[in-house]
Amino acid sequence: MRAMERLAPPPWKAKVVEPIELRSPRERRVAIGNAGFNTFLLRSEDVYIDLLTDSGTGAMSDRQWAALMCGDEAYAGSRSFFRLQAAVERVMGFPYVLPTHQGRGAENLLFSCLVRPGQCVVNNLHFDTTRAHARHKGGRPVDLVVEEAYAAGFRAPFKGNMDLDRLDRFLRETGRDAVALVMVTVTCNGAGGQPVSLSNLRGVRQVCDRYGVPLFLDACRFAENAYLIKQREPGQEGRGVGEIVRDMMAVADGCTMSAKKDGLCNIGGFLAMRDPELYRQACQWAVLFEGFPTYGGLAGRDMEAMAVGLEEVVDEGYLAYRVGQVEELARRLEGEGVPIVQPPGGHGVYVDAAAMLPHLPRHRFPAWALTVELYLEAGVRAVEIGTVMAGRDPATGDHDYPRLELMRLAVPRRVYTSSQLGLVADALGRINRRREAVRGLEFTHEPPFLRHFTARFRPV
Ligand code: F0G
Repeated sequence: MRAMERLAPPPWKAKVVEPIELRSPRERRVAIGNAGFNTFLLRSEDVYIDLLTDSGTGAMSDRQWAALMCGDEAYAGSRSFFRLQAAVERVMGFPYVLPTHQGRGAENLLFSCLVRPGQCVVNNLHFDTTRAHARHKGGRPVDLVVEEAYAAGFRAPFKGNMDLDRLDRFLRETGRDAVALVMVTVTCNGAGGQPVSLSNLRGVRQVCDRYGVPLFLDACRFAENAYLIKQREPGQEGRGVGEIVRDMMAVADGCTMSAKKDGLCNIGGFLAMRDPELYRQACQWAVLFEGFPTYGGLAGRDMEAMAVGLEEVVDEGYLAYRVGQVEELARRLEGEGVPIVQPPGGHGVYVDAAAMLPHLPRHRFPAWALTVELYLEAGVRAVEIGTVMAGRDPATGDHDYPRLELMRLAVPRRVYTSSQLGLVADALGRINRRREAVRGLEFTHEPPFLRHFTARFRPV
C-alpha cells in the first residue's frame, strides 16, 4: 500500500460557487436542539461543512452542465437514452441498460425479477436499501464479508472482500434453489468504503459458477474501487483504471448503479445486464415502478449528465485527487489521535466512536453523540453508522447492536477544499482532547423503523 505524502492539486478549477456560512455557537445550539439532536433534521443552511453523504452532493463539470441542455425529452426512444446506453457499454461493457430514478430503483427492478419469497440474497455487506429491498421481496439478506472488515483499526488492503470459503460453504449447504443471487458491493460502504480486489471478484465468480448462481455488482463506487485496486493490488499498479473497471465488470452478469456517487450526478441510476431475457423481464417492472424503459424516472437531461459523468469518473487525475483528499483527511485525524477505520476507503473517513468515547455505553449511542458534538463544535454534519441506524432486533425488541459503532465523514465529489477538510480534522482533534465530557443521548421519539431519519433525542 502506498500512502501519498502530499496531496496533488485538483485537476479542475471552480467556475461556480455556493456561499456557505458558519453559524455562531449559540445559533448552532438552537439549531441542533430544534432538530431533536438529529443531524438529518438540520436545515442544510445551518450546516457549514456537510459530510452527511457523498450521494448526489457532488459538483458537476461544465461539460455535464452543457450536456443538460442537449437532453432529448421524448417519452420513448430518447436520444439521451442511447447516449447513456453507449456510455455504460463503453465504460462497463454491459449491453442492456434500464435507467432508474436512483440506485434503490435499480435494486427494486432486479430483485423483482430474481428474488422469490424465502430465497437468500448474499452480499459482502448489504447497504440499507439493498437489504430492505431484498426483505421487501420476501428474501433473506446474508452478509459474508471477510472477518477483518469488523476490526476497525486493523490495516488490510481489501477489507471489502467476500469471504470465499464461507460463500462456498453457504451455497453448498443452502442449495442453488434457495439462493436468488450473489451481489458484491464495490466499494463496501458499510465497512468503511473498503475496496474489493480483482482476484476476490474473480474468486466470487468461480464460486457462483460452481453452483449456477447469478452475480451482480452494487457498483455505486466502482471507479473508486478500481483506483484502490490500482494502488493496492499486486500486479495492477501499471494498468489503466478504465481497463481495471472492465475487468471488474467482466466477472458480473450485471450491476445496480446509483449515479449519485460515481456517476458524478445529483440524481439518477440504472440497472445494467447482459441477459436479453432478464432485460425484457426488468422492462415490465420498469414501466410499473420507474417509467418507460428509455427514461426510467429520469429527465432526458439527467441521462445526458450521467453519460458524461461515467466517462469523467474514470479519469485518473480526478481519482488521484479524490482518493488522495480522503487519505489526507485520514492522515490529519490520525495526527490528532482520533481512532478511525484503517486504511481509509474511497469516499470518506469513518471514525471509530466506540474506541474514541469508551465512557459511553452502546445504549447511549456514542457515534450519534459524536455527530451532535461535531456539529456543535464546528457546524460540521456527519452521519452515524451505528446502533441508532441498525434499529431493533424484531425478536428481542432490544437494540440490534452492530459490530462497529462508526461516525462517517463522507466527502462529496469535487466540492470541498483541503483547508475545509482540515477544519473538520481540527474540530475532531479538539473534541478528542476533551472526549470524557461528551454526553450520551436517549430517545424522546423513536419511530418503529428506519428510526435514524426522524428520531429525536435528549442529552443525558
Ligand atoms: N448501494 C450502496 C452501496 C449505497 O451506498 C447506496 C446509497 C445505495 C446502494 C442506494 O443508492 O441512494 O441512489 O438509492 N448510499 C447513500 C449513502 C445514500 O449515503 O451512502 P440511492
